[in-house]
Amino acid sequence: MSFDLVLFGGTGDLAWRKLMPALFQAFRHGTLPAGGRIIGVGRDDLSSEQYRAQISARFDKIELLKRPSEEEFARFAALIEFMRMDLSRPDDYPRLAAALQQRQADTVVMYVATAPALFTTVCEQLAQVGLNSAQTRIVLEKPLGHDLASNRAINETVGRVFSEKQIFRIDHYLGKPSVQNLFALRFGNALFEPLWRREYIANIQITIAEQLGVENRGAFYETTGALRDMVQNHALQLLCAIGMEPPINSHADAIRDEKLKVLRSLKPWSAEALAQDVIRGQYAAGSIAGNAVPPYRDEKGVDPHSHTETFVALRTEISNWRWAGVPFYIRTGKRLAGRDARIVINFRPTPHAIFNAQMDVSNRLVISLQPRDGLELHLLAQGQSKGRSAQTLSPVQLDLDFDTRFGSERVGAYERLLLDVIDGRLNLFVRSDEQEEAWRWVEPIIEHWDNDAQGPRLYAAGTWGPSAASAMIARDGYCWAEEC
Ligand code: BG6
Repeated sequence: MSFDLVLFGGTGDLAWRKLMPALFQAFRHGTLPAGGRIIGVGRDDLSSEQYRAQISARFDKIELLKRPSEEEFARFAALIEFMRMDLSRPDDYPRLAAALQQRQADTVVMYVATAPALFTTVCEQLAQVGLNSAQTRIVLEKPLGHDLASNRAINETVGRVFSEKQIFRIDHYLGKPSVQNLFALRFGNALFEPLWRREYIANIQITIAEQLGVENRGAFYETTGALRDMVQNHALQLLCAIGMEPPINSHADAIRDEKLKVLRSLKPWSAEALAQDVIRGQYAAGSIAGNAVPPYRDEKGVDPHSHTETFVALRTEISNWRWAGVPFYIRTGKRLAGRDARIVINFRPTPHAIFNAQMDVSNRLVISLQPRDGLELHLLAQGQSKGRSAQTLSPVQLDLDFDTRFGSERVGAYERLLLDVIDGRLNLFVRSDEQEEAWRWVEPIIEHWDNDAQGPRLYAAGTWGPSAASAMIARDGYCWAEEC
């Protein structure tokens, strides 16, 4: 099956850091279908040769990417071309159409990794030059809009040009191996299903912690913030994967229908909940891995008086029969104590204790997304160490590390998702109604913050965020997994 993949934003940060390395990995793993062509599109005045040289130079900086030999890179580079285009200029599109029509590939993928302001222009112009035929698929990177109204406007324009089954709204968290395994754990095994409910689960914690700051994306981040950048999409998709009912089959719409129901069941925000259950923070100076780092307000492109949040912690509930009353905590932030993305499911304690210390420690299932992919099941066991009372149980952990278990080189999220687009599999992509529902739910938070002159709470870089996040969870009698 031949394909053309057009990468709008071909000289952007995402292309260098994620997309080109992912395409290369797929090529290296032999999973990229033969007969492919990758056309990077950008405004720079580059020849294809120069573009390839830039890709090669960037590969040196990618952690975890085993550097290709010259021969291997040359074989990959032979698939790549560069086309100079100004996406806001209608006159530039016929050249693209000519290049694509000349080859008539079986599948054409348009990957729009540009500023969202360009999404609608690109779609409209592609339609103008006839590049929206049935074999075309369009991939839209987040953020898809800034709020519900702008998200709808984008979805409407894109929807006029492409049918829903041609639209791949990417959320790379859905491509992470641990998220795949969460679906496998829940729907491929019977073991946890009876326990996966309010009767047995005390609370659920979703943490996506980063050590990085805003890097060179200060100007973008200023108008985005952690709520729009991480909560509206990645964190809520994880919450859906945990909270959804078993779908009737593995088809894209069956899965997306169930995720949508979760989003619709999220507890609406009351004024009290907005004041108590949502904490926003912003990193101040501090230290990461022993190195001093500047405050967010000193980052390039950032307003020195900025109120943009680099941290969010919140508490919500899914109001349905399975989950009513179970708190779901979401926490994400930049410049935190560790690079650590995980979902922690805390089970209820035993109803009656016959051993010492039994009531203090409950069972816990940890789905780890980063830095490693794995599952940990925390249990209590009777240790055999000398001198210990037979009545005392010790916490033990069963570990399943997917990298060790499956041995092979890890398939990254973007690699997996790009291959899915080329193959036309929509399961791991987000439907417009899911996205709208997620925006609808975060909007009251945005409004609340817009009217709150206090601004975010500062936290020292290298910590777990403002102490108010711990106080919030402590009100329910719980603590974040690393605290207890
Ligand atoms: C992106 C956000 O969607 O996800 C970034 O825009 C963030 O701000 C990134 O750093 C995190 O992704 P990952 O896969 O490194 O956890």
